[in-house]
Amino acid sequence: MKAVVVQKPGAPEVLKIEDRPLPPTEGGWVRIHVKGFGLNRAEMFTRQGHSPGVSFPRILGIECVGLVDHDPSQKYEKGAQVAAIMGGMGRKFDGSYAQYVVVPLECVIPFHSQLPWSVLAALPEMFHTTHGALSESLELKQNDTLLIRGGTSSIGLLAARLAKAMGAHVVSTSRSHERIEFLKANGADDVVLDTGQILGAVRKLFPEGVTKVLELVGATTLVDSLSCTATGGIVSMVGILGGKWILDGFEPMRDIPHLVKLTIYTTDAVTPSANLFQAFLDDVAKGNFTLAPPKVFALEGIIEAHRLMEANEAKAKLVVVF
Ligand SMILES: NC(=O)c1ccc[n+]([C@@H]2O[C@H](COP(=O)([O-])OP(=O)(O)OC[C@H]3O[C@@H](n4cnc5c(N)ncnc54)[C@H](OP(=O)(O)O)[C@@H]3O)[C@@H](O)[C@H]2O)c1
Repeated sequence: MKAVVVQKPGAPEVLKIEDRPLPPTEGGWVRIHVKGFGLNRAEMFTRQGHSPGVSFPRILGIECVGLVDHDPSQKYEKGAQVAAIMGGMGRKFDGSYAQYVVVPLECVIPFHSQLPWSVLAALPEMFHTTHGALSESLELKQNDTLLIRGGTSSIGLLAARLAKAMGAHVVSTSRSHERIEFLKANGADDVVLDTGQILGAVRKLFPEGVTKVLELVGATTLVDSLSCTATGGIVSMVGILGGKWILDGFEPMRDIPHLVKLTIYTTDAVTPSANLFQAFLDDVAKGNFTLAPPKVFALEGIIEAHRLMEANEAKAKLVVVF
């Protein structure tokens, strides 16, 4: 099979397409014939050598969609449509940047859909992160005012659509003036230009503050986001687009406003839900969500796709289809 292998960490050029033997399956694991996979910043960090515990050579990739090729447990028939996410894929064991991947049974999400593989490939990780963060972590409700910090990211774009469907008012941010109209065309009711300090702009729109914040930029903006939040509100940190993991000089009694709740959300700790994913795919197929179209590459375009991600120029989910 063809696979994208990283022999040692580095720039996008370390992503090499190699011929690899078909990976064997054993009890509790399923071999998937990969039809497409989404790209994630998690792979960018791994490729750069920043993922703790990852050894090289390694086939990257934390998610995929495809057809079951071999399931020794016989839970899934050969040819069944499935997605798979996380569970150590592309980190602890070889991942989905390949024609075949072998994953633990608990990572497998069965579904039925006529949507094209390019659309399906964009959705497993993005849906589980976004839906879980909004509904479980932020407890989003109708009439909530949701600030999406990092609105032009693929997670931010889907979050705006899902939040609108849940009846929330969405305020999205970008650092770029040119992206204001793009965000408005993709579900944002209001857009705030992110200068790093947006308290004034947010309070102009909502003098009491917003009720919920989806923090995708991370430690660089978290304290400012907390200050934008109304009494009783929730801030959930889900991303680290700002590239900074540690909060310098954090003083909880000063930086977390009275009665504001601060939490995080990670799909690492989540069991994927086949029912929720199926319902979402059905909604997409019925046209209930207008998703920002993914940017689609062949396997040979993997270096270019990683360059685009690293330059923050994607403005969409990046996917590879076979
Ligand atoms: N918790 C989880 O389980 C989970 C799962 C998946 C993803 N994530 C995280 O969610 C975040 C979004 O992922 P994604 O794949 O959707 O990202 P993406 O599409 O690659 O995001 C690109 C956007 O990030 C913004 N950005 C880049 N660097 C920035 C910086 N230094 N400061 C502020 N904004 C910056 C840019 O927006 P502008 O230039 O328009 O400002 C750019 O349009 C990532 O941090 C990812 O690791 C978390």
